[in-house]
Amino acid sequence: MPPLEPRHLIKSELRAASPAIAPSILQCDYADLGREIADLEEAGARLLHLDVMDGHFVPNFTFGMTIVEAARRSTNLPLDVHLMMEQPGRYLRQFREAGADVITVHEEVCRDPQELADLLEEIRGLGALAGVAINPPTPLANIDAVVAHCDLILVMSVMPGFGGQAFDRVALDKLAALRARDDMDALLEVDGGINADTIADCTKAGADLLVVGSAISSGKNYRERFKQLEQRM
Ligand code: DX5
Ligand code: ZN
Repeated sequence: MPPLEPRHLIKSELRAASPAIAPSILQCDYADLGREIADLEEAGARLLHLDVMDGHFVPNFTFGMTIVEAARRSTNLPLDVHLMMEQPGRYLRQFREAGADVITVHEEVCRDPQELADLLEEIRGLGALAGVAINPPTPLANIDAVVAHCDLILVMSVMPGFGGQAFDRVALDKLAALRARDDMDALLEVDGGINADTIADCTKAGADLLVVGSAISSGKNYRERFKQLEQRM
């Protein structure tokens, strides 16, 4: 058998780690990014979630490829880049070159299934895992036609834009429905409002990757926070 391409290797590593916490650096101290990332890695992170916000698709700005590139120089962990932006196709190559291993785009910015499939295949062509994200009001039917083009499906459990919001349980039914499909080869990820009270419901519903922002970054001791969450899941 020929050796696995890096993209497939990362996918099988993440599958083997499932369920795994994907800490978001959204609320970290950017003046000390390298230290923050090292702390998350020491705490047990198997991947890092990076939230890119453009001030259009979501009412908030964060960062672009320069921070992705700085994170890349700080760690060998897979970088899971969540693009909350309009026209993500304009920047896929730059995010990949900055070091993104997973690139996730929102269905809501590309409502034509063929265009969305093309975008996902373009991500794969760049050597990254291709993810599609859906907001809480977006029905699963909207991504039916592109499931075969996805390495990851990101089910949002908050409206994207800010950390620290309350978990929307609509995500649980979507995760369970995706998990029940026999053609499901994508990793299932959930994002928003995940904490010690909500994490077990997510893993029960079938999530592989659990994005956690404030429930980790609000604590001083990331290792403790990780341990508590892992016990719950
Ligand atoms: C929200 C982002 C999330 C955010 C999660 O728009 O996509 O990844 O960092 O933060 P918490 O865990 O605080 O909801
Ligand atoms: Zn996110």
